Amino acid sequence: IRTKIHDNSDEASFYVANEIADLIRQRQKSGKKVVLGLATGSTPTKVYEYLVKFHKEEGLSFKNVITFNLDEYFPMQPDSIHSYVRFMREHLFDHIDIRKENIHIPDGSLEKEDVRDYCQAYEQKILKSGGIDIQVLGIGRTGHIGFNEPGSTLVSKTRLVRLDRVTKLDAASDFFGLENVPKRAITMGVGTILSAKRIILMAWGEGKSEVIAKAVEGPIKESVPATFLQHHSNCDFILDEAAASALT
Ligand code: F6R
Repeated sequence: IRTKIHDNSDEASFYVANEIADLIRQRQKSGKKVVLGLATGSTPTKVYEYLVKFHKEEGLSFKNVITFNLDEYFPMQPDSIHSYVRFMREHLFDHIDIRKENIHIPDGSLEKEDVRDYCQAYEQKILKSGGIDIQVLGIGRTGHIGFNEPGSTLVSKTRLVRLDRVTKLDAASDFFGLENVPKRAITMGVGTILSAKRIILMAWGEGKSEVIAKAVEGPIKESVPATFLQHHSNCDFILDEAAASALT
Protein backbone atom coordinates (compact mmCIF):
# COMPACT_ATOMS: atom_id res chain seq x y z
CA ILE A 1 0.00 0.00 0.00
CA ARG A 2 1.30 3.43 -0.95
CA THR A 3 -0.07 6.38 1.01
CA LYS A 4 -0.52 9.82 -0.51
CA ILE A 5 -1.43 12.64 1.84
CA HIS A 6 -3.17 15.77 0.57
CA ASP A 7 -3.88 19.02 2.42
CA ASN A 8 -7.60 18.39 2.28
CA SER A 9 -10.24 16.08 0.82
CA ASP A 10 -11.13 18.48 -1.97
CA GLU A 11 -7.60 18.49 -3.36
CA ALA A 12 -7.38 14.73 -2.91
CA SER A 13 -10.68 14.17 -4.71
CA PHE A 14 -9.52 16.35 -7.60
CA TYR A 15 -6.40 14.19 -7.89
CA VAL A 16 -8.43 10.93 -7.92
CA ALA A 17 -10.98 12.29 -10.41
CA ASN A 18 -8.12 13.25 -12.71
CA GLU A 19 -6.59 9.79 -12.61
CA ILE A 20 -9.96 8.30 -13.58
CA ALA A 21 -10.55 10.90 -16.31
CA ASP A 22 -7.06 10.37 -17.73
CA LEU A 23 -7.65 6.63 -18.10
CA ILE A 24 -11.05 7.21 -19.74
CA ARG A 25 -9.53 9.61 -22.27
CA GLN A 26 -6.54 7.42 -22.95
CA ARG A 27 -8.76 4.39 -23.64
CA GLN A 28 -11.12 6.46 -25.79
CA LYS A 29 -8.26 7.28 -28.15
CA SER A 30 -7.73 3.60 -28.83
CA GLY A 31 -11.48 2.80 -28.85
CA LYS A 32 -11.32 0.72 -25.70
CA LYS A 33 -13.56 0.41 -22.67
CA VAL A 34 -12.79 1.31 -19.06
CA VAL A 35 -14.25 -0.72 -16.20
CA LEU A 36 -14.68 1.20 -12.94
CA GLY A 37 -15.52 -0.29 -9.55
CA LEU A 38 -17.44 2.33 -7.58
CA ALA A 39 -18.26 3.03 -3.95
CA THR A 40 -21.02 5.02 -2.29
CA GLY A 41 -21.02 6.84 1.06
CA SER A 42 -19.75 10.28 1.97
CA THR A 43 -16.12 9.68 0.98
CA PRO A 44 -16.26 9.57 -2.86
CA THR A 45 -18.93 12.25 -3.40
CA LYS A 46 -16.42 14.97 -4.33
CA VAL A 47 -14.74 12.68 -6.85
CA TYR A 48 -18.11 12.21 -8.53
CA GLU A 49 -18.70 15.97 -8.38
CA TYR A 50 -15.44 16.53 -10.26
CA LEU A 51 -16.23 13.84 -12.83
CA VAL A 52 -19.60 15.52 -13.50
CA LYS A 53 -17.78 18.86 -13.80
CA PHE A 54 -15.28 17.39 -16.29
CA HIS A 55 -18.21 16.02 -18.31
CA LYS A 56 -20.11 19.33 -18.35
CA GLU A 57 -17.19 21.71 -18.76
CA GLU A 58 -14.57 19.73 -20.63
CA GLY A 59 -16.72 17.29 -22.56
CA LEU A 60 -15.36 14.17 -20.83
CA SER A 61 -17.52 11.35 -22.19
CA PHE A 62 -18.46 8.18 -20.31
CA LYS A 63 -19.71 6.33 -23.40
CA ASN A 64 -16.83 3.86 -23.11
CA VAL A 65 -17.24 3.35 -19.36
CA ILE A 66 -18.66 0.28 -17.62
CA THR A 67 -19.29 0.46 -13.88
CA PHE A 68 -19.75 -2.08 -11.11
CA ASN A 69 -20.80 -0.82 -7.69
CA LEU A 70 -19.42 -2.53 -4.63
CA ASP A 71 -22.57 -3.06 -2.65
CA GLU A 72 -26.22 -2.45 -1.86
CA TYR A 73 -28.27 -2.89 1.29
CA PHE A 74 -30.53 -5.95 1.47
CA PRO A 75 -33.43 -5.79 1.33
CA MET A 76 -33.61 -2.52 -0.57
CA GLN A 77 -35.88 -1.24 -3.32
CA PRO A 78 -33.94 0.61 -6.04
CA ASP A 79 -36.27 3.64 -5.85
CA SER A 80 -35.91 4.04 -2.05
CA ILE A 81 -34.19 7.22 -0.88
CA HIS A 82 -31.74 4.95 0.99
CA SER A 83 -30.74 2.82 -1.98
CA TYR A 84 -27.30 2.99 -3.51
CA VAL A 85 -29.01 2.99 -6.92
CA ARG A 86 -30.57 6.31 -5.98
CA PHE A 87 -27.28 7.55 -4.51
CA MET A 88 -25.34 6.80 -7.70
CA ARG A 89 -27.99 8.41 -9.91
CA GLU A 90 -28.02 11.57 -7.81
CA HIS A 91 -24.27 11.93 -7.49
CA LEU A 92 -23.09 10.68 -10.89
CA PHE A 93 -25.14 8.68 -13.38
CA ASP A 94 -27.97 11.19 -13.98
CA HIS A 95 -25.44 13.89 -14.84
CA ILE A 96 -23.15 12.10 -17.32
CA ASP A 97 -23.55 10.30 -20.67
CA ILE A 98 -22.94 6.74 -19.43
CA ARG A 99 -25.03 4.04 -21.15
CA LYS A 100 -27.68 2.57 -18.84
CA GLU A 101 -26.74 -0.97 -19.83
CA ASN A 102 -23.16 -0.35 -18.69
CA ILE A 103 -24.20 0.40 -15.08
CA HIS A 104 -24.20 -2.47 -12.57
CA ILE A 105 -25.32 -2.15 -8.96
CA PRO A 106 -26.16 -5.18 -6.81
CA ASP A 107 -29.95 -5.65 -6.71
CA GLY A 108 -31.29 -5.41 -3.18
CA SER A 109 -34.86 -6.16 -4.24
CA LEU A 110 -34.36 -9.85 -5.07
CA GLU A 111 -36.00 -12.76 -3.26
CA LYS A 112 -33.47 -14.18 -0.83
CA GLU A 113 -33.38 -17.57 -2.59
CA ASP A 114 -32.31 -15.88 -5.83
CA VAL A 115 -29.40 -13.95 -4.33
CA ARG A 116 -26.77 -16.68 -4.60
CA ASP A 117 -27.18 -17.14 -8.36
CA TYR A 118 -27.39 -13.40 -8.82
CA CYS A 119 -24.06 -12.90 -7.01
CA GLN A 120 -22.36 -15.53 -9.15
CA ALA A 121 -23.70 -13.82 -12.27
CA TYR A 122 -22.38 -10.47 -10.97
CA GLU A 123 -18.89 -12.00 -10.70
CA GLN A 124 -19.22 -13.41 -14.22
CA LYS A 125 -20.23 -10.01 -15.60
CA ILE A 126 -17.13 -8.42 -14.06
CA LEU A 127 -14.96 -11.12 -15.61
CA LYS A 128 -16.68 -10.86 -19.01
CA SER A 129 -16.18 -7.08 -19.04
CA GLY A 130 -12.42 -7.74 -18.78
CA GLY A 131 -12.07 -7.07 -15.04
CA ILE A 132 -12.03 -3.85 -13.06
CA ASP A 133 -9.41 -1.30 -14.17
CA ILE A 134 -9.78 1.06 -11.20
CA GLN A 135 -11.58 0.14 -7.99
CA VAL A 136 -12.58 3.11 -5.83
CA LEU A 137 -12.97 2.34 -2.11
CA GLY A 138 -13.89 3.99 1.15
CA ILE A 139 -13.26 2.33 4.49
CA GLY A 140 -15.56 1.72 7.45
CA ARG A 141 -14.58 2.13 11.09
CA THR A 142 -14.75 -1.68 11.38
CA GLY A 143 -12.06 -1.94 8.70
CA HIS A 144 -14.63 -3.01 6.12
CA ILE A 145 -14.09 -2.45 2.39
CA GLY A 146 -17.32 -2.74 0.44
CA PHE A 147 -19.41 -4.39 3.13
CA ASN A 148 -16.77 -7.01 3.88
CA GLU A 149 -17.00 -6.86 7.64
CA PRO A 150 -14.53 -8.41 10.11
CA GLY A 151 -14.42 -12.16 9.48
CA SER A 152 -14.52 -11.84 5.68
CA THR A 153 -11.91 -14.02 4.01
CA LEU A 154 -9.22 -13.11 1.51
CA VAL A 155 -10.93 -15.16 -1.22
CA SER A 156 -14.52 -14.04 -0.55
CA LYS A 157 -16.63 -13.18 -3.60
CA THR A 158 -19.89 -11.31 -4.18
CA ARG A 159 -22.41 -12.50 -1.59
CA LEU A 160 -25.06 -11.67 0.99
CA VAL A 161 -23.52 -10.56 4.30
CA ARG A 162 -24.62 -9.38 7.73
CA LEU A 163 -23.68 -5.82 8.64
CA ASP A 164 -21.55 -5.23 11.71
CA ARG A 165 -23.15 -3.40 14.64
CA VAL A 166 -20.70 -0.48 14.27
CA THR A 167 -21.60 -0.14 10.58
CA LYS A 168 -25.32 -0.08 11.42
CA LEU A 169 -24.69 2.55 14.12
CA ASP A 170 -22.82 4.68 11.59
CA ALA A 171 -25.76 4.40 9.17
CA ALA A 172 -28.45 4.95 11.82
CA SER A 173 -28.85 8.71 11.35
CA ASP A 174 -29.33 8.29 7.57
CA PHE A 175 -32.11 5.81 8.27
CA PHE A 176 -33.68 7.86 11.09
CA GLY A 177 -32.88 5.21 13.71
CA LEU A 178 -30.86 2.04 14.16
CA GLU A 179 -33.95 -0.14 13.94
CA ASN A 180 -34.51 0.97 10.32
CA VAL A 181 -31.02 0.08 9.08
CA PRO A 182 -31.09 -3.09 6.94
CA LYS A 183 -29.37 -5.99 8.68
CA ARG A 184 -27.78 -7.29 5.53
CA ALA A 185 -26.19 -6.22 2.27
CA ILE A 186 -24.97 -7.69 -1.00
CA THR A 187 -21.28 -6.89 -1.45
CA MET A 188 -18.43 -7.73 -3.77
CA GLY A 189 -15.96 -9.89 -1.84
CA VAL A 190 -12.41 -9.16 -0.72
CA GLY A 191 -11.26 -11.49 -3.51
CA THR A 192 -13.36 -9.58 -6.05
CA ILE A 193 -11.82 -6.29 -4.93
CA LEU A 194 -8.27 -7.66 -4.98
CA SER A 195 -8.76 -8.79 -8.60
CA ALA A 196 -8.96 -5.14 -9.68
CA LYS A 197 -5.89 -3.97 -11.61
CA ARG A 198 -5.69 -0.80 -9.56
CA ILE A 199 -7.21 0.11 -6.19
CA ILE A 200 -7.70 3.63 -4.81
CA LEU A 201 -8.93 3.81 -1.22
CA MET A 202 -9.85 7.23 0.09
CA ALA A 203 -10.36 8.34 3.68
CA TRP A 204 -11.02 11.73 5.21
CA GLY A 205 -11.06 12.98 8.76
CA GLU A 206 -9.79 12.12 12.18
CA GLY A 207 -12.50 9.47 12.70
CA LYS A 208 -10.79 7.24 10.09
CA SER A 209 -7.22 7.72 11.35
CA GLU A 210 -7.15 4.70 13.66
CA VAL A 211 -8.48 2.24 11.09
CA ILE A 212 -6.19 3.69 8.42
CA ALA A 213 -3.14 3.08 10.61
CA LYS A 214 -4.26 -0.52 11.22
CA ALA A 215 -4.96 -1.13 7.54
CA VAL A 216 -1.59 0.20 6.36
CA GLU A 217 0.74 -0.80 9.19
CA GLY A 218 -1.04 -3.54 11.11
CA PRO A 219 -0.77 -7.31 10.69
CA ILE A 220 -2.89 -8.78 7.88
CA LYS A 221 -5.95 -10.39 9.48
CA GLU A 222 -9.61 -11.14 8.89
CA SER A 223 -10.66 -8.95 11.83
CA VAL A 224 -9.54 -5.90 9.80
CA PRO A 225 -10.48 -6.78 6.20
CA ALA A 226 -8.80 -3.67 4.75
CA THR A 227 -5.43 -5.15 5.79
CA PHE A 228 -5.88 -7.63 2.90
CA LEU A 229 -5.15 -4.70 0.58
CA GLN A 230 -1.50 -5.07 1.66
CA HIS A 231 -1.45 -8.07 -0.70
CA HIS A 232 -2.22 -5.86 -3.73
CA SER A 233 0.68 -4.52 -5.76
CA ASN A 234 -1.07 -1.42 -7.12
CA CYS A 235 -3.05 0.00 -4.22
CA ASP A 236 -2.93 3.66 -3.12
CA PHE A 237 -4.48 5.14 0.01
CA ILE A 238 -5.40 8.76 -0.71
CA LEU A 239 -5.75 10.57 2.60
CA ASP A 240 -6.25 14.01 4.04
CA GLU A 241 -3.97 15.12 6.89
CA ALA A 242 -6.46 14.10 9.58
CA ALA A 243 -7.01 10.57 8.26
CA ALA A 244 -3.22 10.12 8.01
CA SER A 245 -2.54 11.44 11.52
CA ALA A 246 -2.14 8.06 13.26
CA LEU A 247 0.36 6.68 10.72
CA THR A 248 3.87 6.31 12.12
C1 F6R B 1 -19.91 1.98 0.24
C2 F6R B 1 -18.95 1.05 0.86
C3 F6R B 1 -18.45 1.29 2.25
C4 F6R B 1 -18.03 2.74 2.52
C5 F6R B 1 -17.56 2.88 3.96
C6 F6R B 1 -17.21 4.33 4.30
O1 F6R B 1 -20.22 1.55 -1.07
O2 F6R B 1 -18.60 0.10 0.25
O3 F6R B 1 -17.35 0.44 2.47
O4 F6R B 1 -17.02 3.10 1.64
O5 F6R B 1 -18.55 2.45 4.84
O6 F6R B 1 -18.37 5.11 4.28
P1 F6R B 1 -18.27 6.69 4.30
O7 F6R B 1 -17.60 7.10 3.05
O8 F6R B 1 -19.71 7.17 4.34
O9 F6R B 1 -17.49 7.06 5.51
